[in-house]
Amino acid sequence: MNLGNVNTIRSVILIFCFGYVQNRRKIKTNNTVLSDPNSDIYLDSLQILAKYGYNPQKHSVITGDGYVVDLFRIPRKGPPVLLVHGIADSSDSWLVLGPANSLAYKLADLGYDVWLHNTRGNKYSRGHIRNIPTRKYWNYTFEEMGTQDLPAVIDYVLATRTLGKLYYVGFSQGTTTFFIMCSLKPEYNEKVKHAVLLAPIALINNIKYPFIDILSKNLNLLVPLFNNLGIYDVFANNNLLNLYHAKVCRDNVPEKVLCELEFYISYGIRNLTNLLTERLPVIASHVPAGVSVKTFVHFFQTYLSKRFQRFDYGVAKNRLVYSSKHPPEYDLSLITVPITIMVSETDWFSLVENVEIIRKKLPNVAGYTVFNKSLDFTHLEFVYGSRAKTLVNNPVANIINNDYYAGLEIV
Ligand SMILES: *[C@@H]1O[C@H](CO)[C@@H](O)[C@H](O)[C@H]1NC(C)=O
Ligand SMILES: *[C@@H]1O[C@H](CO)[C@@H](O)[C@H](O)[C@H]1NC(C)=O
Ligand SMILES: *[C@@H]1O[C@H](CO)[C@@H](O)[C@H](O)[C@H]1NC(C)=O
Ligand SMILES: *[C@@H]1O[C@H](CO)[C@@H](O)[C@H](O)[C@H]1NC(C)=O
Repeated sequence: MNLGNVNTIRSVILIFCFGYVQNRRKIKTNNTVLSDPNSDIYLDSLQILAKYGYNPQKHSVITGDGYVVDLFRIPRKGPPVLLVHGIADSSDSWLVLGPANSLAYKLADLGYDVWLHNTRGNKYSRGHIRNIPTRKYWNYTFEEMGTQDLPAVIDYVLATRTLGKLYYVGFSQGTTTFFIMCSLKPEYNEKVKHAVLLAPIALINNIKYPFIDILSKNLNLLVPLFNNLGIYDVFANNNLLNLYHAKVCRDNVPEKVLCELEFYISYGIRNLTNLLTERLPVIASHVPAGVSVKTFVHFFQTYLSKRFQRFDYGVAKNRLVYSSKHPPEYDLSLITVPITIMVSETDWFSLVENVEIIRKKLPNVAGYTVFNKSLDFTHLEFVYGSRAKTLVNNPVANIINNDYYAGLEIV
């Protein structure tokens, strides 16, 4: 479905609702997929990996500030690779296309020791060693994911192995957190052999998300409203919503238009066939997985300020926290890890023009791939797309293989 603008979307919603009510009685849906309790739709990361014979392990890691984050591992003898998901998502994102198409299985099949990260606050990582108030628990942004979660997890992974370094693959917010870790804790540059950054997000000026303008300009209203309502997390995992998604995101059901609309409005995907159609109910039933409101606020601040900077508390508190009126920018020049970047011209969120700016500031860009407009490759397709296997996963595996085997030849 090709939808030009928000007005079209609105018309389609109205027409659809009318048509839906008219046709209610005639709709027959095929519930075979939904009624199978062993369908991937109902399984979590561990269960999916076990189902496909990958003998997964679960590891709980405690961060410096007491959060408990869960890691899933496909244990193999090769070097460790850490996969880090996008915003409000989880380790499921590297698994839901199934063994033939998702990156985690591919790397495990090649012998890499695969570790699947889950940032604080998502459905797998909601613990804390102390019984802290809810308000305090959700008081984090992607900065703490970068300065607390990632370092704790990287130290944990490396401690299980005699190797001093690991490979890093991040998608979207999983690149933001990587930049922050390496700039605020530069000693971690030494612990990453090579990082592949898919659809990187640092500067987000001019992004195409249709609601970014209205949301970010109304932050002063929205944040107190959320606080007063006691809402600190958004897009939490919700089983009813997951089931709804699994139902509407199937082929040959009239409700599929709802799925198409949601994916277009939220992510700019014009053509749902670009997602792996037979896996769509599984994909749709596993997102979203939860994140703090403050993380979104931090992204909106980044949009408004046009700077990749630390959280803005307002002038008075900034002086206390940062000793300056404005929050400092994250210093990308401190990131010495060799980086390969993949970005797409059709991505609404990771814009080539923004990536070009950060690319010039990064001292060690080893590879740079741009998917051109004619591919119509949108943001989520880097992990959920029917072409992820050929355009992303195979090249990512080659980059890591080449780096690893080049190192062995020298020794
Ligand atoms: C959607 O993609 C499929 C397969 O790539 C293509 O056959 C179809 O024409 C596309 N539909 C639209 C509306 O662009
Ligand atoms: C329902 O879906 C299942 C699995 O996709 C398929 O095998 C079956 O033939 C479908 N049944 C009908 C009546 O379409
Ligand atoms: C949240 O964290 C900031 C910065 O560390 C701190 O100044 C603030 O008081 C915290 N708020 C809550 C509710 O814990
Ligand atoms: C876009 O990329 C595809 C695949 O790499 C290539 O075949 C095509 O020639 C490119 N088109 C343009 C306009 O560069």
